[in-house]
Amino acid sequence: MNYPVTRLRRLRANPQIRNLVQENQVNIQDLIYPLFVCEGKSIRKEIPSMPGIFQLSIDNIVKECEELSRLDIPGVLLFGIPAHKDHVGTDSYADEGIIQRAVRAIRESVSDLLIITDICLCEYTDHGHCGNIVSGDVDNDTTLDLLSRQALSHAKAGAGMLAPSAMMDGMVSSIRNTLDQNGFSGLPIMSYSAKFASSFYGPFREAAESSPQFGDRKSYQMNGTNAREALREIEQDIKEGADIAMVKPALAYLDIIRQARDNFSIPLAAYNVSGEYSMIKAAAARGWINEDQIVIEVLNSIKRAGADIIISYFAKDVAIRLKNY
Ligand code: PBG
Repeated sequence: MNYPVTRLRRLRANPQIRNLVQENQVNIQDLIYPLFVCEGKSIRKEIPSMPGIFQLSIDNIVKECEELSRLDIPGVLLFGIPAHKDHVGTDSYADEGIIQRAVRAIRESVSDLLIITDICLCEYTDHGHCGNIVSGDVDNDTTLDLLSRQALSHAKAGAGMLAPSAMMDGMVSSIRNTLDQNGFSGLPIMSYSAKFASSFYGPFREAAESSPQFGDRKSYQMNGTNAREALREIEQDIKEGADIAMVKPALAYLDIIRQARDNFSIPLAAYNVSGEYSMIKAAAARGWINEDQIVIEVLNSIKRAGADIIISYFAKDVAIRLKNY
């Protein structure tokens, strides 16, 4: 039926009708909030390129997590900034490493928050790359051992989910095997399956102090132009035992989220990354856009593309707003 019988504006006439036919809606229960843990006491150091986001020492991380749990945020994604970096990222798998201590401290005082930990080496290595350097490049197979050690130590500390982000081949199966052999067969893996070599990570590298000291990450993170390859990455991770697959970044890659959704039945996460946060904050600070409205529009676009889970630095703000309605 065509106009004039069909008039699509009928279902836009008032908020009640509009809400009834609304197709997607971001909920607090879909959101994960990233946190940066640093050494020291009472530290709350704002990241200049990410207004409203802080490096927090463990005491403050615990307070933050208590607040997030009161806001009904289901989970946090922890990134560690160790005091000491070295060639192989030793602090990443140390029992007394920054993340291991943070996880134990959060577990002691907050019970209903999912603690997800990032499994990667770039925050822990003095060269800033995501793995072990051999002859000037990241060596895949020796990196797998390091990532598995890190994963096991996070599991022992009490992490509720692990999120490997190093983009090494075989990363998921290597971590899965290590976990299964050590009594952690019930611990889920959310793999950064399709992680693109992106300039949208710029502010994060300031936050996590994890910029590569030479070269770039293009020999392990994906070429941003490749969609078919992203599907191969996700397919591999599913075969290796990933429980959740992630696409990252989100906004310049909404088509990848949609294709992943159409091709696979695995739960999908999307990472609304640091640069996507900073651009909105910067424009809003100049009064050029309405931040509150744009944030909801962006998060809903990621849901519409097909993500079940959204990792976002806006999660806390959104939770506060949704609670106050
Ligand atoms: C790697 C990692 C990165 C991000 C999450 N995990 C950075 C990178 O690959 O350089 C980026 C997240 C963001 O930009 O918000 N450990």
